[in-house]
Amino acid sequence: MKNGVSLQTTYLGIPFANPFILASAPPTATGDMIRRAFEAGWGGAVIKTLCCNPERNLANRFASIRGGGRVIGFENLELLSEYTPEDWFRDIRAIKADFPDYPIIGSIMGDSHSPDEWLTLAKGCQDAGADLLELNFSCPHGCPERGRGAAIGQNPDYAARITGWMAECPEVTIPIIPKLTAAVADIRHIGEELARSGAAGFCAINTVPSFFGFDLKTLRPRPDIGGMTSYGGYSGSGIKPIALRAVAELCQSPGLPVMACGGIVSGYDAAEFMLLGAPVVQVGTEVMLRGFGIVSEMKRDLETFMEWHGFRILSDFTGIRRDTVTSFGKLPTDLQYKAEIDLSRCSRCGSCVDACRDGGCQAVAWCLDQPQIDSNACSGCSLCGQVCPAGAIEMKSQRLAAC
Ligand SMILES: Cc1cc2nc3c(=O)[nH]c(=O)nc-3n(C[C@H](O)[C@H](O)[C@H](O)COP(=O)(O)O)c2cc1C
Repeated sequence: MKNGVSLQTTYLGIPFANPFILASAPPTATGDMIRRAFEAGWGGAVIKTLCCNPERNLANRFASIRGGGRVIGFENLELLSEYTPEDWFRDIRAIKADFPDYPIIGSIMGDSHSPDEWLTLAKGCQDAGADLLELNFSCPHGCPERGRGAAIGQNPDYAARITGWMAECPEVTIPIIPKLTAAVADIRHIGEELARSGAAGFCAINTVPSFFGFDLKTLRPRPDIGGMTSYGGYSGSGIKPIALRAVAELCQSPGLPVMACGGIVSGYDAAEFMLLGAPVVQVGTEVMLRGFGIVSEMKRDLETFMEWHGFRILSDFTGIRRDTVTSFGKLPTDLQYKAEIDLSRCSRCGSCVDACRDGGCQAVAWCLDQPQIDSNACSGCSLCGQVCPAGAIEMKSQRLAAC
């Protein structure tokens, strides 16, 4: 406990020293990497997904989108673990012997028609000492063409059948956690089906199906694999809103505990997922970009957030804002908002004038050398506040008088 704040937590009864878990991705590609992550302070790790027939990866399989001097979106065409199940079972056993208090989460993918494959992998991870088991129903590339990965997560019948194979097998006793894709029409429906089939919780989300476009100098697609490319998986901070929506929906229904994943790059991001109800979070891309050491910064940021609000333990705020996200029809209609400019902060850049004139309601105009809002014309849409680089525009609400 530091400054009266503790980051200890539990997920499905398993204790974690802190809620930051490495997602199944290149940072968990080998047992040695997981050891170094634990030494750096990560609370747990999900192994890179293992399967019965590992394949070599293609080279040059990544692409990125940059903004503000850093990578804000990442695409990959990476396959599953290149190691055999036996390699992984040996490594899990060895890591657990040296780090008994650090939860290891197995991650497996089998054929949608083969209970044997799934059960062999599940029992192997469990017997080696894995504390929890993720079922990868969500990889968007390489696997769906073969009826695996996201092809399973997008088909509630397949996903429920495979979850049931695990849940009904008396020899598989560790909690079963399907890892879901957001690329579905209704993630709640899938979650409810899987809850009925025996899922103990969920991990959401995996990468998002994408295509990263062309290099306009060479006219080659990205990533460029011999002048060709394929549809890949989008990750990193750009997908956080997609992940937040999926986690919000799953926390509301069926309400099983969710390991949140997708676009988490700071402790503040983690706090947002926790406000929805996620007890732990997973991080993939940001670790690839900045290394295991970022966990110290993430923990510090989460502690700072807790200190702002006087929260002492994670359960003080986990889930407390879950029900602020609702269906459109339930939003209050008796509120009026008006934009107000704090001219002492305004840089006179004119962004609000341009945006309101051509994308809003023509309520902001220059008055001599400063923007002025005509509050009668202002519809309260907030566009001016979104574009203001100085944070000088605030939306002030008032309740409409009943007629
Ligand atoms: C290069 C790469 C490889 C990945 N491999 C796997 C995998 O083997 N199994 C899996 O379940 N998810 C895999 N993922 C998805 C991540 O676990 C995670 O769900 C996703 O990247 C979103 O989180 P992030 O924005 O923190 O990266 C991979 C992601 C990346 C970027």
